[in-house]
Amino acid sequence: MNHHHHLILRTPLIMAIASTTTFSKSLSLMRSIRSISSSSIVCFCSSAVNLSNGDGGISMVQGASRGIGLEFVKQLLGRNEKGHVIATCRNPDKAIGLLELKKQFPEHLHIQQLDVTDERTIEASANSIRERYGFLNLLINASGILSIPNVLQPETTLSKVQKSSLLLAYEVNAVGPIMVIKHMWPLLKAGKGFGTGQDFAVVANISARVGSIGDNRLGGWHSYRSSKSALNQLTKTLSVEFARRKDAIICILLHPGTVDTDLSKPFQKNVPQEKLFTKEYSVQKLLGIINNVNSTDNGKFFAWDGQEIPW
Ligand SMILES: NC(=O)c1ccc[n+]([C@@H]2O[C@H](COP(=O)([O-])OP(=O)(O)OC[C@H]3O[C@@H](n4cnc5c(N)ncnc54)[C@H](OP(=O)(O)O)[C@@H]3O)[C@@H](O)[C@H]2O)c1
Repeated sequence: MNHHHHLILRTPLIMAIASTTTFSKSLSLMRSIRSISSSSIVCFCSSAVNLSNGDGGISMVQGASRGIGLEFVKQLLGRNEKGHVIATCRNPDKAIGLLELKKQFPEHLHIQQLDVTDERTIEASANSIRERYGFLNLLINASGILSIPNVLQPETTLSKVQKSSLLLAYEVNAVGPIMVIKHMWPLLKAGKGFGTGQDFAVVANISARVGSIGDNRLGGWHSYRSSKSALNQLTKTLSVEFARRKDAIICILLHPGTVDTDLSKPFQKNVPQEKLFTKEYSVQKLLGIINNVNSTDNGKFFAWDGQEIPW
């Protein structure tokens, strides 16, 4: 689409958006507008954003087969009937929870295969989201590993530290989410807060308090801890770059608390009952933070209760 076409088309398209009644119609119109505007110097996105507020936006939850990620998908679909959710996981055919949700929300949930250790699957997801929706407003990276039987054990002493464990934790917990953001970046830039009532897109990386260097009093869990510290540093680094480029994207890190999931199961013995959260409670708190985020929060690390965690 050349510039000339763009100038002719923009007013009728925006009016069409204002008068359209169904989200899918306005979504495909938004897609056309965005593809036109991306090749244009004139930016009229803000009027389209205003007209489309309340349409719910497009969210992606990466690591959505189980645990906290699956609960994010559930609550995002449940609390906003107009929004669309892309849920990604390594094995969609085995993601029973997601398949159940798909029956309930056939139009609004889109499931995609993505393994954070395989960049081709990340690129394929980005391409498919670009074709299907054209943009993203929210990206939640929820995948993560702490222990895998016979492969990865949280270390209790330096003598148990293995190079393979350090690298695996680093690959999945730190490198993976960053590669996802890299490939979703153009979609987030295009999406900003369209449909969500915010002025920006949001990236929320699920970290862990044990990734805090300042808060490290117990030692141990070398692989997991350091992988989350790396995730924190990488996320902070992106947040600085996005701000410098004036990209309308806010990046935050979230600690969900100790949550009753497969990940924490082997370590729940010494956790007092009141400190072991349900997925429902934790995700409700985290979505509260995500929905109320503002530009001064960019690059910050928050616990489930909204408290900032030291680096
Ligand atoms: N639970 C807690 O107490 C707690 C506390 C602090 C932080 N966190 C963090 O919260 C996040 C979610 O944890 P959770 O408790 O929900 O754990 P979980 O129930 O074990 O779920 C982990 C998720 O990560 C996915 N995953 C693992 N490797 C992956 C890969 N290579 N590519 C894509 N996805 C991958 C898993 O997919 P598969 O089904 O394919 O394995 C699963 O969906 C993690 O980042 C974790 O570090 C949890």
